[in-house]
Amino acid sequence: MCGIIGYIGHRPAVPIVLEGLEHLEYRGYDSAGLGYVFNQDLKIIRSSGKLNNLKEKVINEGSSLTVMTAIGHTRWATHGAPEERNAHPHMSNDKRLALVHNGIIENYLELKKDLLSLGYSFKSDTDTEVLVNLISECCHSEPDLLHALAKALRMAKGAFAICLMDREAPNVLYAARNQAPLIFGQGVGENFIASDVPAFLNYTRDVVFLEDGQILVAQSGDHKILRLNDLQSVSCETQRIQWSMQAAQKGGYRHFMLKEIFEQPNVITDGLTGRLENNDQINLPELERILIPKRLHIVACGTSYHAGLWGEHLLEHWAHIPVQTEIASEFRYKEELLLDPNEDVVLVISQSGETADTLAALRRAKEAKVKTIGLCNVVGSSIAREADCVLYTQAGPEISVASTKAMTSQMLMLTCMALYYARRNKSMSLGLRQSTLGQLRSLAQFLSQELPQMHTMAKALSRKYAQAKSFFYLGRGYCFPLALEGALKLKELSYIHAEGYAAGEMKHGPIALIDPTFPTFVLAPAESEMYAKIKSNMVEIQARQGQVIALTNPGTDLAADDRWEIPFLPGPLMAFLILPCLQLFSYEVSDYLGKDVDQPRNLAKSVTVE
Ligand code: M6R
Repeated sequence: MCGIIGYIGHRPAVPIVLEGLEHLEYRGYDSAGLGYVFNQDLKIIRSSGKLNNLKEKVINEGSSLTVMTAIGHTRWATHGAPEERNAHPHMSNDKRLALVHNGIIENYLELKKDLLSLGYSFKSDTDTEVLVNLISECCHSEPDLLHALAKALRMAKGAFAICLMDREAPNVLYAARNQAPLIFGQGVGENFIASDVPAFLNYTRDVVFLEDGQILVAQSGDHKILRLNDLQSVSCETQRIQWSMQAAQKGGYRHFMLKEIFEQPNVITDGLTGRLENNDQINLPELERILIPKRLHIVACGTSYHAGLWGEHLLEHWAHIPVQTEIASEFRYKEELLLDPNEDVVLVISQSGETADTLAALRRAKEAKVKTIGLCNVVGSSIAREADCVLYTQAGPEISVASTKAMTSQMLMLTCMALYYARRNKSMSLGLRQSTLGQLRSLAQFLSQELPQMHTMAKALSRKYAQAKSFFYLGRGYCFPLALEGALKLKELSYIHAEGYAAGEMKHGPIALIDPTFPTFVLAPAESEMYAKIKSNMVEIQARQGQVIALTNPGTDLAADDRWEIPFLPGPLMAFLILPCLQLFSYEVSDYLGKDVDQPRNLAKSVTVE
């Protein structure tokens, strides 16, 4: 939530900061701003709405061309409405300091009260304006700005990634992190600070993923990283980013989301590389250091939670491991976790690896001394670093706020885990394991052939159903998590109310809502043991004049308003064909309704606040 960037070097800083903000806009896009020192004054330019509004203001301003240091911010509102006065950077009352911040200072009201009593005044509703004035206040008692910053940050409770600039020393930038991502990009004669790598990947691939409790002091040709608590220097490993900026571009597609949906065959190929050892084994050396779980707890949020629920079926069915899948924001606050370090393992799933609730759940599990596995996409993210072992999904950068290829990659790794543990637990017949591995091998090519037809059908159906006010998505067994995901995609992208249900639950209340204007999307693969049951649920809806789209296979006897036939795959791997249909349908409805597909309202890609 929120993207921050700082640049200090030998090039005009404002265009670099604006370019970086473009790559960070997925993190928040309700307002934006930047700051720099010009003619010994701090200059702050801010605007509500999308980044283009800010760009226009910057062009009109025209004073920035020569500055070599600047900071910038793109916001997802936490404190205060998305108005210009709440946009970052925020300035201290004495107009000496400017601060951009991602996170939440939980005790900001308390701190604000103290500052008000000292005569400070506030123009915004934000916690950030409190923090910058707290730093300013600490300057009175501390020998220099670094000590003042450290003191203020020690007083602040909560999550932050910040970048600070000083009117009196525009050749230095300060940055710090606690529970929010912050990456230092090390160039030649220039340095970058940002919430995510794409913000500066056009300029450097050498990065340091800052740790919680670290402060960075950067100049154009120099930097030091210090511990926040005692300001002692620490040495940090520089890593080289392997993926290219091209992976974070639209590549000719109308939206990132569409590109990412169509990337799914490649994601499957990449995810399986090095995993398929021979015709009956999955290679997951990462898991060898960890006990085979007697019980597995999967913890995640949103789409990653749905992937976990889907994986639960495979891990239980194939590997005979009892699995409990939990929402991270619930798990982290459970009074008792009731975990046994000798039997339980916690698997946290997160595309970004930075989701605040999932990270907190991971930490809670570690406190309980159970082994943890992180299933993440972003290399070097907090969860990837803190879990006892990490499995990377290798899906490449996912830019669209709505998660698509990340879920496919998570499902793929969960499939691999289930097959891996099934072999070690001897719980799955060799024949079934081999045939499943065979299907996995041909999955990418199969999906790639099917995607164009799926897209055509999704487009046609979107035109028919885009005016609906509400939608149900129904599934049973492994299709239930997909129904949840289908509903989430539709609501987040098109703002149409949609609910996913286990089909058997319909008659326990929700069916009361059905009328001719309330369509239902039924997931009814042919082979599922549940086919007959889901067919009955569908007929019950039709008996109440509800319209039905049935996603099914050729040869089934479902009479729906719209039959969407996709090829058959045996078992839960069918999900790898169902999911893209749901994604494409939501994509097309959203685009047809003229919504902002890649950046839906009120959302942000990486939810680093509670
Ligand atoms: O980065 P994470 O996988 O931890 O993110 C979890 C959710 O915030 C995320 O999946 C969210 O639900 C997506 N916007 C859904 O499309």
